[in-house]
Amino acid sequence: MNALDRRLDVATRLAQQAGQLALSLRPPPGAPVASLKGAQDWLTEADGRVEAFLSEELARAFPEDGFQGEETGSGRAGRLRWVVDPIDGTSNFARGTPRFCVSLGLVEERTALLGVLVAPALGETFAARQGGGATLNGAPIRVASTTDLARGAVECGWSPRRPNAAYFQLVQGVMGAGAMLRAGGSGALGLADVAAGRIDAYMELHINLWDVAAALAILAEAGARLSPFLEGDGLVAGNPILAAAPGVAEALSAISGIGLA
Ligand code: IPD
Ligand code: CA
Repeated sequence: MNALDRRLDVATRLAQQAGQLALSLRPPPGAPVASLKGAQDWLTEADGRVEAFLSEELARAFPEDGFQGEETGSGRAGRLRWVVDPIDGTSNFARGTPRFCVSLGLVEERTALLGVLVAPALGETFAARQGGGATLNGAPIRVASTTDLARGAVECGWSPRRPNAAYFQLVQGVMGAGAMLRAGGSGALGLADVAAGRIDAYMELHINLWDVAAALAILAEAGARLSPFLEGDGLVAGNPILAAAPGVAEALSAISGIGLA
């Protein structure tokens, strides 16, 4: 087994354990059980616990690798860097909704090498490594063959980091093209849905590395067209993202102004 396959194996096992830990800590439905780091930027007890678990286990398994987590920042340096979002979709998680996941990606400089996304309450594990194809619960996945946005579905992720007016303009463009609009509260799972052909594209005007690190590897292996997220400021300050089925990618790039790689 080569070094990347071994890392994918271990990452899948650890992300699934982390998912079970998150599930055991999920609040019941009701008002959010969480604190706010900023506007609509939620933090739960589980975020810290899951990140600490993954940081410790990865250090044990691959002491030479670096580590960066959403909650603790760049903890360790290394040629290969694990990038963790302990709970993506925290606004869902904090009020008992099943649409959340643990995201574990591995990057080398500006390349996404592998990614695992575990959505424990949905019973779903997305995984991919460079050159090895993308899977959902072990079965191969592929982006949709849609070519007409009027028959398509597009998720527009919202974050408080860009003005609402810019988001409204994006949504107007997507709906104006006749697409069905989605907004599910987890950027990572929205991107994974593109990889699985469940929707045709995911766009967001600004998103952070930990939200997308795992999904980028999965999308590339599933045949998506992508914006160059890891170029420019992406690794440090985040970037806009466009991930789309090839047949609608150019049209959505024109609508959003987000360039394709
Ligand atoms: C957020 C979610 C949301 C996306 C934001 C992210 P969090 O991450 O993925 O869907 O629109 O950009 O920050 O706070 O749930 O980990
Ligand atoms: Ca996130």
